[in-house]
Amino acid sequence: MIITIDGPAGSGKSTAARKLAARLGIAYLDTGAMYRAIALRALEHGVRLTDVEALVKTALEADIEVICGPTFTRVMLDGRDVTEAIRSMAVNAATSYVAREQRIRDLLVKRQREIGARLGSLVTEGRDQGSVVFPHADLKFFVDASIEKRAERRHQEMLADGENVTYDEILANLRERDGNDAHQWAPLLEPATAIHLDTTRLTIHEVVEKMLEVIQRQKSSAN
Ligand code: DC
Repeated sequence: MIITIDGPAGSGKSTAARKLAARLGIAYLDTGAMYRAIALRALEHGVRLTDVEALVKTALEADIEVICGPTFTRVMLDGRDVTEAIRSMAVNAATSYVAREQRIRDLLVKRQREIGARLGSLVTEGRDQGSVVFPHADLKFFVDASIEKRAERRHQEMLADGENVTYDEILANLRERDGNDAHQWAPLLEPATAIHLDTTRLTIHEVVEKMLEVIQRQKSSAN
């Protein structure tokens, strides 16, 4: 069973996907982590983010391995664990440059489909999972929340990670990312068949419960 969860930055999709996968006992794939790993590699190799050819080269050379468990994704870049390193503000900002390059997207879409084919069942999360990567997914969710709420959640996460950053910086970063990510190469598309969940007033527990209800309903109507 392939379940896709798409939505804008800070919508709660990562936590929801991880918790849903854990409840279902299937793998969880964080596709943003793959874009982030390439951005980290570009930063570490001194690649200019506006130099598209160099960015594509660094993406093609990157040895990215995503280890998908039901409660975690660990990301290996060129043989080392970068799961934590890809969460910095610098990587946040650089990832938009990576995500807007179509050749890099094609490469990662192919890898994501390979992971899906290999695992058979997974909850996969990103911004194009239901629309582009797995158009025939069994179930598609689209999660959204107000930008203020998304900034608040991101801020809490970053503080918990020990990042020294203000709410206003996060809000500005999200506004910029919403803009960049809405770029024609990587539009955030809501599949017509997706179930839309506004998570502004929901706890993560409530989001996951709603998702489980939908899955249960779908199972009952299939029987
Ligand atoms: O979900 P996230 O914050 O880890 O995503 C990091 C960046 O990668 C963000 O700019 C959106 C982009 N992204 C993408 O373009 N396509 C995906 N499938 C996942 C993430």
